[in-house]
Amino acid sequence: MAEVIWGLATSHVPSIGAAMDHGKTADPYWNPLFDGYAPARAWMARHTPDVAVIVYNDHANALDLTVTPTFGIGTAASYQVADEGWGSRPVPAVTGAPAFSDHLVGSLIDDSFDITVYQDLDVDHGLTVPLSVYCPDPGESWPCAVVPLLVNVIQYPQPTAARCLALGHALGAAIRSFPEDLKVAVFGTGGMSHQLAGERAGLINQEFDRMFLDAIEHDPEKLASLTREEYIREAGSEGIELIMWLVMRGALGPRIRRVYETYHVPASNTAAGMVLFENLGR
Ligand code: DHB
Ligand code: FE
Repeated sequence: MAEVIWGLATSHVPSIGAAMDHGKTADPYWNPLFDGYAPARAWMARHTPDVAVIVYNDHANALDLTVTPTFGIGTAASYQVADEGWGSRPVPAVTGAPAFSDHLVGSLIDDSFDITVYQDLDVDHGLTVPLSVYCPDPGESWPCAVVPLLVNVIQYPQPTAARCLALGHALGAAIRSFPEDLKVAVFGTGGMSHQLAGERAGLINQEFDRMFLDAIEHDPEKLASLTREEYIREAGSEGIELIMWLVMRGALGPRIRRVYETYHVPASNTAAGMVLFENLGR
Protein backbone atom coordinates (compact mmCIF):
# COMPACT_ATOMS: atom_id res chain seq x y z
CA MET A 1 0.00 0.00 0.00
CA ALA A 2 1.11 3.55 -0.58
CA GLU A 3 1.98 5.69 2.44
CA VAL A 4 2.64 9.36 3.11
CA ILE A 5 6.18 9.59 4.52
CA TRP A 6 6.55 13.33 4.94
CA GLY A 7 4.90 16.69 4.31
CA LEU A 8 6.63 19.91 3.33
CA ALA A 9 5.02 23.34 3.51
CA THR A 10 6.90 26.09 1.73
CA SER A 11 6.45 29.50 0.16
CA HIS A 12 6.82 29.46 -3.62
CA VAL A 13 8.07 33.03 -4.26
CA PRO A 14 9.33 33.18 -7.88
CA SER A 15 12.47 35.14 -6.95
CA ILE A 16 13.60 32.21 -4.75
CA GLY A 17 13.78 30.16 -7.95
CA ALA A 18 15.43 33.04 -9.81
CA ALA A 19 18.08 33.39 -7.07
CA MET A 20 18.94 29.71 -7.50
CA ASP A 21 18.85 29.83 -11.30
CA HIS A 22 21.22 32.83 -11.36
CA GLY A 23 23.69 31.61 -8.71
CA LYS A 24 22.78 34.26 -6.14
CA THR A 25 22.04 32.07 -3.12
CA ALA A 26 25.28 33.08 -1.34
CA ASP A 27 24.60 36.82 -1.78
CA PRO A 28 24.03 38.63 1.53
CA TYR A 29 20.36 39.23 0.66
CA TRP A 30 19.60 35.55 -0.01
CA ASN A 31 22.08 33.74 2.19
CA PRO A 32 19.96 33.71 5.39
CA LEU A 33 16.98 32.21 3.56
CA PHE A 34 18.98 29.44 1.89
CA ASP A 35 20.94 28.70 5.08
CA GLY A 36 17.56 28.17 6.70
CA TYR A 37 16.64 25.54 4.10
CA ALA A 38 19.80 23.46 4.54
CA PRO A 39 18.84 21.14 7.45
CA ALA A 40 15.45 20.25 5.94
CA ARG A 41 17.04 19.62 2.55
CA ALA A 42 19.60 17.29 4.11
CA TRP A 43 16.84 15.30 5.87
CA MET A 44 14.67 15.07 2.73
CA ALA A 45 17.68 13.91 0.70
CA ARG A 46 17.86 10.90 3.05
CA HIS A 47 14.11 10.22 2.68
CA THR A 48 13.47 10.31 -1.06
CA PRO A 49 9.84 9.60 -1.99
CA ASP A 50 8.71 7.77 -5.13
CA VAL A 51 6.19 10.50 -5.86
CA ALA A 52 5.31 13.94 -4.52
CA VAL A 53 1.77 15.31 -4.55
CA ILE A 54 2.36 19.06 -4.89
CA VAL A 55 -0.57 21.23 -3.83
CA TYR A 56 -0.19 24.56 -5.59
CA ASN A 57 -1.89 27.22 -7.65
CA ASP A 58 -1.23 28.41 -11.15
CA HIS A 59 -0.92 32.22 -11.26
CA ALA A 60 -2.66 32.73 -14.62
CA ASN A 61 0.60 31.64 -16.28
CA ALA A 62 -0.15 28.25 -17.81
CA LEU A 63 -3.92 28.59 -17.40
CA ASP A 64 -6.08 31.56 -18.25
CA LEU A 65 -8.91 32.97 -16.20
CA THR A 66 -11.77 32.04 -18.52
CA VAL A 67 -12.15 28.80 -16.53
CA THR A 68 -11.30 28.60 -12.83
CA PRO A 69 -11.69 25.13 -11.35
CA THR A 70 -11.72 25.07 -7.57
CA PHE A 71 -9.66 21.85 -7.35
CA GLY A 72 -7.77 20.00 -10.09
CA ILE A 73 -5.29 17.16 -10.53
CA GLY A 74 -2.80 16.60 -13.33
CA THR A 75 -2.88 13.14 -14.88
CA ALA A 76 -0.16 13.60 -17.53
CA ALA A 77 3.01 11.56 -18.01
CA SER A 78 5.07 14.76 -17.92
CA TYR A 79 4.67 18.49 -17.35
CA GLN A 80 6.68 21.19 -19.08
CA VAL A 81 8.01 24.16 -17.12
CA ALA A 82 5.81 27.19 -17.92
CA ASP A 83 7.18 30.29 -19.60
CA GLU A 84 6.03 33.08 -17.29
CA GLY A 85 7.07 35.83 -19.69
CA TRP A 86 10.88 35.71 -19.65
CA GLY A 87 11.53 32.13 -20.75
CA SER A 88 11.13 28.90 -18.80
CA ARG A 89 13.23 28.29 -15.68
CA PRO A 90 16.33 26.19 -16.50
CA VAL A 91 15.12 23.21 -14.47
CA PRO A 92 14.09 19.72 -15.64
CA ALA A 93 10.61 18.99 -16.92
CA VAL A 94 8.48 17.25 -14.32
CA THR A 95 7.74 13.53 -14.64
CA GLY A 96 4.16 12.55 -13.84
CA ALA A 97 2.63 9.44 -12.28
CA PRO A 98 -0.47 8.88 -14.47
CA ALA A 99 -1.79 5.68 -12.85
CA PHE A 100 -1.44 7.15 -9.38
CA SER A 101 -3.07 10.42 -10.54
CA ASP A 102 -6.01 8.47 -11.99
CA HIS A 103 -6.41 6.61 -8.71
CA LEU A 104 -6.42 9.85 -6.72
CA VAL A 105 -8.99 11.46 -9.03
CA GLY A 106 -11.31 8.45 -8.80
CA SER A 107 -10.99 8.11 -5.05
CA LEU A 108 -11.54 11.84 -4.41
CA ILE A 109 -14.58 12.00 -6.71
CA ASP A 110 -16.05 8.96 -4.93
CA ASP A 111 -15.43 10.94 -1.74
CA SER A 112 -17.52 13.87 -3.14
CA PHE A 113 -14.59 16.13 -4.14
CA ASP A 114 -15.39 16.98 -7.77
CA ILE A 115 -11.90 17.25 -9.15
CA THR A 116 -11.10 18.82 -12.54
CA VAL A 117 -8.72 16.66 -14.58
CA TYR A 118 -5.73 18.24 -16.36
CA GLN A 119 -4.44 15.88 -19.05
CA ASP A 120 -2.08 18.55 -20.36
CA LEU A 121 -0.51 21.15 -18.08
CA ASP A 122 2.53 23.38 -17.85
CA VAL A 123 3.66 24.08 -14.29
CA ASP A 124 4.56 27.57 -13.07
CA HIS A 125 6.64 28.83 -10.11
CA GLY A 126 3.94 27.63 -7.71
CA LEU A 127 5.14 24.07 -8.36
CA THR A 128 8.72 24.40 -9.62
CA VAL A 129 9.99 26.67 -6.82
CA PRO A 130 8.91 24.18 -4.11
CA LEU A 131 10.70 21.45 -6.09
CA SER A 132 13.84 23.62 -6.04
CA VAL A 133 13.40 24.28 -2.31
CA TYR A 134 13.29 20.48 -1.85
CA CYS A 135 16.08 19.63 -4.30
CA PRO A 136 18.46 22.46 -5.26
CA ASP A 137 20.56 20.47 -7.75
CA PRO A 138 18.33 18.06 -9.67
CA GLY A 139 20.74 17.50 -12.57
CA GLU A 140 18.94 15.88 -15.50
CA SER A 141 15.76 14.99 -13.61
CA TRP A 142 13.94 15.57 -10.32
CA PRO A 143 14.38 12.86 -7.66
CA CYS A 144 10.72 11.77 -7.77
CA ALA A 145 7.62 11.77 -9.93
CA VAL A 146 4.99 14.45 -9.28
CA VAL A 147 1.20 14.71 -9.13
CA PRO A 148 0.13 18.38 -9.40
CA LEU A 149 -2.92 19.18 -7.26
CA LEU A 150 -4.27 22.63 -8.10
CA VAL A 151 -6.33 24.88 -5.82
CA ASN A 152 -7.98 28.14 -6.87
CA VAL A 153 -6.60 30.79 -4.54
CA ILE A 154 -6.58 33.68 -7.02
CA GLN A 155 -10.25 34.22 -7.96
CA TYR A 156 -13.10 34.89 -5.54
CA PRO A 157 -14.66 32.74 -4.16
CA GLN A 158 -11.72 30.58 -3.17
CA PRO A 159 -12.52 27.29 -1.36
CA THR A 160 -12.79 27.60 2.40
CA ALA A 161 -9.88 26.63 4.61
CA ALA A 162 -12.15 23.96 6.13
CA ARG A 163 -12.75 22.48 2.68
CA CYS A 164 -9.00 22.39 2.04
CA LEU A 165 -8.36 20.52 5.30
CA ALA A 166 -11.17 18.09 4.43
CA LEU A 167 -9.64 17.60 0.97
CA GLY A 168 -6.38 16.77 2.72
CA HIS A 169 -8.09 14.11 4.83
CA ALA A 170 -9.63 12.60 1.69
CA LEU A 171 -6.28 12.85 -0.14
CA GLY A 172 -4.55 10.95 2.67
CA ALA A 173 -7.17 8.19 2.46
CA ALA A 174 -6.89 8.13 -1.34
CA ILE A 175 -3.09 7.76 -1.15
CA ARG A 176 -3.31 4.96 1.42
CA SER A 177 -5.78 3.03 -0.74
CA PHE A 178 -3.40 2.85 -3.73
CA PRO A 179 -2.38 -0.82 -3.95
CA GLU A 180 1.30 -0.35 -4.86
CA ASP A 181 4.02 0.20 -2.23
CA LEU A 182 4.68 3.85 -3.06
CA LYS A 183 6.40 6.27 -0.70
CA VAL A 184 4.60 9.58 -1.09
CA ALA A 185 5.53 13.11 0.00
CA VAL A 186 2.89 15.85 0.06
CA PHE A 187 3.83 19.50 -0.50
CA GLY A 188 1.63 22.43 0.56
CA THR A 189 2.86 25.59 -1.14
CA GLY A 190 2.38 29.37 -1.14
CA GLY A 191 2.22 32.05 1.52
CA MET A 192 3.22 33.21 3.97
CA SER A 193 1.82 36.72 4.50
CA HIS A 194 2.07 38.81 1.35
CA GLN A 195 0.12 41.22 -0.78
CA LEU A 196 1.54 42.08 -4.18
CA ALA A 197 -0.65 45.01 -5.24
CA GLY A 198 -2.94 47.74 -4.04
CA GLU A 199 -2.82 50.01 -1.01
CA ARG A 200 -1.53 47.27 1.29
CA ALA A 201 1.21 46.03 -1.09
CA GLY A 202 4.15 44.76 0.94
CA LEU A 203 1.99 43.71 3.88
CA ILE A 204 3.83 41.35 6.26
CA ASN A 205 2.09 40.03 9.40
CA GLN A 206 4.69 38.14 11.41
CA GLU A 207 2.34 37.59 14.34
CA PHE A 208 -0.17 35.82 12.11
CA ASP A 209 2.56 33.83 10.34
CA ARG A 210 4.03 32.64 13.66
CA MET A 211 0.57 31.63 14.88
CA PHE A 212 0.02 29.74 11.61
CA LEU A 213 3.40 27.95 11.81
CA ASP A 214 2.52 26.69 15.29
CA ALA A 215 -1.11 25.80 14.58
CA ILE A 216 -0.39 23.93 11.35
CA GLU A 217 1.23 21.33 13.61
CA HIS A 218 -0.87 21.45 16.77
CA ASP A 219 -4.27 22.83 15.82
CA PRO A 220 -5.07 22.70 12.08
CA GLU A 221 -8.80 22.83 12.97
CA LYS A 222 -8.26 26.34 14.29
CA LEU A 223 -6.78 27.36 10.93
CA ALA A 224 -9.64 25.61 9.14
CA SER A 225 -12.15 27.71 11.06
CA LEU A 226 -10.85 31.01 9.63
CA THR A 227 -12.83 32.54 6.77
CA ARG A 228 -11.29 33.51 3.44
CA GLU A 229 -11.87 37.13 4.39
CA GLU A 230 -9.87 36.61 7.61
CA TYR A 231 -6.99 35.06 5.62
CA ILE A 232 -6.97 38.02 3.24
CA ARG A 233 -7.24 40.58 6.04
CA GLU A 234 -4.51 38.99 8.18
CA ALA A 235 -2.15 37.52 5.57
CA GLY A 236 -2.84 39.71 2.51
CA SER A 237 -4.63 39.15 -0.78
CA GLU A 238 -2.06 36.51 -1.85
CA GLY A 239 -1.44 35.27 1.70
CA ILE A 240 -4.64 33.25 1.32
CA GLU A 241 -2.37 30.77 -0.51
CA LEU A 242 -1.77 29.42 3.02
CA ILE A 243 -5.01 27.42 2.78
CA MET A 244 -3.04 25.05 0.53
CA TRP A 245 -0.85 24.09 3.51
CA LEU A 246 -4.01 22.66 5.09
CA VAL A 247 -4.41 20.15 2.25
CA MET A 248 -0.92 18.85 3.04
CA ARG A 249 -1.61 18.83 6.77
CA GLY A 250 -4.86 16.90 6.34
CA ALA A 251 -3.12 14.22 4.27
CA LEU A 252 -0.59 13.57 7.05
CA GLY A 253 -3.03 12.50 9.75
CA PRO A 254 -2.78 13.05 13.48
CA ARG A 255 0.65 11.62 14.38
CA ILE A 256 3.44 13.80 13.03
CA ARG A 257 6.84 15.07 14.08
CA ARG A 258 8.17 18.51 13.17
CA VAL A 259 11.57 17.84 11.64
CA TYR A 260 12.49 21.45 10.96
CA GLU A 261 11.08 24.92 10.41
CA THR A 262 12.40 28.23 9.13
CA TYR A 263 10.87 31.68 8.66
CA HIS A 264 12.49 34.62 6.92
CA VAL A 265 11.49 38.17 5.97
CA PRO A 266 11.82 39.42 3.30
CA ALA A 267 11.96 37.30 0.18
CA SER A 268 10.96 39.83 -2.46
CA ASN A 269 7.95 41.49 -0.92
CA THR A 270 6.90 38.51 1.17
CA ALA A 271 7.41 36.47 4.30
CA ALA A 272 8.91 33.09 3.40
CA GLY A 273 8.24 30.09 5.60
CA MET A 274 9.07 26.42 5.44
CA VAL A 275 8.08 23.59 7.75
CA LEU A 276 8.85 19.90 7.33
CA PHE A 277 6.86 17.13 9.06
CA GLU A 278 7.63 13.46 9.26
CA ASN A 279 4.47 11.35 9.18
CA LEU A 280 4.47 8.87 12.05
CA GLY A 281 1.60 6.84 10.60
CA ARG A 282 -1.68 5.65 11.95
C1 DHB B 1 5.31 36.51 -5.62
C2 DHB B 1 4.50 35.66 -6.37
C3 DHB B 1 3.86 34.60 -5.75
O1 DHB B 1 3.10 33.73 -6.45
C4 DHB B 1 4.00 34.37 -4.40
O2 DHB B 1 3.34 33.33 -3.87
C5 DHB B 1 4.82 35.21 -3.64
C6 DHB B 1 5.47 36.28 -4.26
C7 DHB B 1 6.02 37.63 -6.29
O3 DHB B 1 5.76 37.87 -7.49
O4 DHB B 1 6.86 38.27 -5.64
FE1 FE C 1 1.94 32.47 -5.29
